[in-house]
Amino acid sequence: MFADLHHLSHHAAWRRQLEMLLESAGEGIYGIDLRGRCIFINSAGAEMLGYTPDEVLGRNMHYLIHHSHPDSALMPVHDCRIFKAFKEGRSCRVEDEVLWRRDGHAFPAEYASYPIRDGEHVVGAVVTFNDITERKHTEAALRAAHCELERRVEERTAELSAANGRLRQASDALRRLSAHMNTVREEERAHIARDIHDDLGASLTAMQLELNWLRQRLSGDDKVCAHIDAALDIGQGAMGAVRRILNDLRPGVLDHLGLWAALECLLQETDGRGGLRCTATIPADVERCRLGREAEIAIYRVAQEVLTNVQRHAGARRVRLFACADGQDLVIRIDDDGRGMQVPAAPVSFGLLGMHERARAIGGRLEIDSAPGFGTTVTLTLPEVVA
Ligand SMILES: Nc1ncnc2c1ncn2[C@@H]1O[C@H](COP(=O)(O)OP(=O)(O)O)[C@@H](O)[C@H]1O
Ligand SMILES: [Mg+2]
Repeated sequence: MFADLHHLSHHAAWRRQLEMLLESAGEGIYGIDLRGRCIFINSAGAEMLGYTPDEVLGRNMHYLIHHSHPDSALMPVHDCRIFKAFKEGRSCRVEDEVLWRRDGHAFPAEYASYPIRDGEHVVGAVVTFNDITERKHTEAALRAAHCELERRVEERTAELSAANGRLRQASDALRRLSAHMNTVREEERAHIARDIHDDLGASLTAMQLELNWLRQRLSGDDKVCAHIDAALDIGQGAMGAVRRILNDLRPGVLDHLGLWAALECLLQETDGRGGLRCTATIPADVERCRLGREAEIAIYRVAQEVLTNVQRHAGARRVRLFACADGQDLVIRIDDDGRGMQVPAAPVSFGLLGMHERARAIGGRLEIDSAPGFGTTVTLTLPEVVA
C-alpha cells in the first residue's frame, strides 16, 4: 500500500494533487533539508513572509525568517527549536516567537515542525506556521480587561469595607446614644417622681388635713358636710393617682425591696386585669442574685413592656414569669398563651427595639420566640452574673 503510494507520488497527477493540497491550506507550510534550506513553500506561507515561493526556495530558512528574538536580539541557529527538534527526530510546537518578514518587520507566529523521514533517517522537516498577531492582540486586551476588572474589584472591596467600618461606627454610636438616653430618661423620671412626691404629695396631704379640720368645725351643717366629704373623696382619688404615677415613674418597690419583689408586684398588679392570670416563679438561689441598679431597672422596664404588650396585643388567658440560673447565666422568661406573632427578623417597632437595646446595654441578649397561634415567649439572658 505504502509502496504504491510512494510509487504514485512520482506520478504527475498525484504530484498535482499534493501541490493543490499545499496551496489550499490557509497556513504557511514549508519544508527544509538537513541544512535548513527551503525545499518547498506554499503561496500562503511565502505571502505571509513577503516573498514569492521562488525567492524562498533554496534559502536557509533560519537566517531568512527566524534569525532574531522579538526584541531583535540574535537567535543563534543552535538555539533554534525547529533546528534542535529535527536534529533529534522530534516534533515541536512553539507560539512565543516571531518570524521576520522581508520588509524587516516581525510578526508573532505560531509554528509546528515535524521531521521528514526517509525510512530510519530524518532528512528534513516540514514546518507549518501562522501569523497570530490578532490572537496576541486579543489576549493582551483580555489580560488588560482582566487586570482592570481586578483593580476595580479591589477598589470596590476597599470602598465597601470602608463603608462597612463607617456603618459599624455609626451603629456603635447609636447604641451608645440609646443607652445614654435610657439612663438620662431614668434619671429624669426619678427627678420628676421626687418633685411630684414632695410638692404635689405634700400639698394633697395638707389639703386633706384642712378639709378634715373644716369637716369637724361644720359638723352641724349636713349640706356643707356633704360637699366637704365629696372634696375629701376627690383628694383621696388624687392621692391614689399620684401613687400610681409615682410607681410607674419610679417603682418604689424596686428601690426598697429589689428587682425580684418588684417583678412579683408587677405581675400581681397585672393579675386579673381583663381576666388575665399572672404567675411569677423565682427560685431562692435567683432571689439572692444582686445585679446592680442599672441592670435591675433595665430588666424591670423590659418586663413592663412585655406585660404591656401581652395586655395590648396577645389576647392571652395567662402569662408566666420564670427566672432561673443556667450555670452562671441568669435567664428570665415570660411566656403567654395568646395569639402570637410573626417575629420580625430585625425589630423596627420601638417597644421591641427598646427591649433589645436595654438588654444589650447591660450585656445581655433578648430572644423572642413566637408564631401566629402559638403564644409568645420572651427570654432575657444575662451571662455570668450568677455567683
Ligand atoms: N405578646 C404578644 N403577642 C402578640 N403580638 C405581640 C406581642 N408582643 C408584641 N406583639 C406584636 O409586635 C408588635 C410590636 O410590638 P411593640 O414594638 O411593643 O410595639 P407596640 O406595642 O407599640 O405596637 C405589636 O404591634 C404586636 O403586633
Ligand atoms: Mg409595646
